Amino acid sequence: MKELENELYECKILVERALDKFLPDENLYPSEIFKAMRYSVFAGGKRLRPILVMKSAELFGLEKEKVLPTACGIEMIHTYSLIHDDLPCMDNDDFRRGKPTCHKMFGEAIALLAGDALLTHAFYVIAKNKDVEGIKENAVLDVIAKISKASGPLGMVSGQVVDILSEGVNIDEKTLYFMDVKKTAELIKVSLWAGARLAGADEKDLIKIETYGEKIGIMFQIIDDILDTNGDEKIIGKPVGSDIKNDKNTFVKMFGIEQSKLLANKLAKEAKEVLVEFKNKEFFMMLIDYLLNRSH
Ligand code: IPE
Ligand code: IPE
Ligand code: MG
Ligand code: MG
Ligand code: MG
Repeated sequence: MKELENELYECKILVERALDKFLPDENLYPSEIFKAMRYSVFAGGKRLRPILVMKSAELFGLEKEKVLPTACGIEMIHTYSLIHDDLPCMDNDDFRRGKPTCHKMFGEAIALLAGDALLTHAFYVIAKNKDVEGIKENAVLDVIAKISKASGPLGMVSGQVVDILSEGVNIDEKTLYFMDVKKTAELIKVSLWAGARLAGADEKDLIKIETYGEKIGIMFQIIDDILDTNGDEKIIGKPVGSDIKNDKNTFVKMFGIEQSKLLANKLAKEAKEVLVEFKNKEFFMMLIDYLLNRSH
């Protein structure tokens, strides 16, 4: 596992340096918004989604540095979703990435605007990928269309809507899967797809990498639900028990911890099967078990 951790660390450093470059200077006027954006982006975070963009590009033969604009844009979209997710009108959480949430530091209005700002700035940054040598403009256009769809009302937002509207309500299994595919798996799927598309992967491989993304995406949310009940707050950097407090529909609520673990294991196995025909798949193979056994 050491090898995987080294690789994750190396990618994380590249992403964080590029994020610093792509985010506006915090001394610009009005500095409050730039400070709030940077506060949440640099509060920590595993950088899973941008790493997926980079490693997927690499899997299909493109140097990972070439997709940094898209990788950083997706991390900005993810961070916006976390800022809004934590707001008092949503999950009402006070800690995120081990620090007070954006609205606790800057107030609700600036936190709301920091989310808006990260979401829109993300597409400004993703579009810059067209200036990178060897990247086709058409691929960037496809990536922009696909990322907006995956994060918008046909994607992540619809999952968040079901999550909020179903608080305190009993939902069926199909609705639970819909919610988790949309709120979490969509952005993970599109991260993999975007890296592959920029690298010029063919249609068959694009479908396969998305299928892998859907499996690990749902698995990722199952583990997130489990960690909300038995995780270590100091390690996960966000409050344990938030789901119970809000009477959320989670895998743990529907199936219990043991059954949820079995479901996560089943998805891990299916994700591995999707990779069978890929060459140079070691990273993606190891990543499955890493995400399955994660403690943060
Ligand atoms: C948390 O995502 C929100 C979910 C979609 C479950 P991460 O667990 O990837 O959060 P960070 O980026 O590492 O803080
Ligand atoms: C968050 O789901 C999904 C998005 C932010 C889109 P959760 O509400 O379970 O995430 P955490 O547990 O607060 O990180
Ligand atoms: Mg939520
Ligand atoms: Mg939440
Ligand atoms: Mg959660």
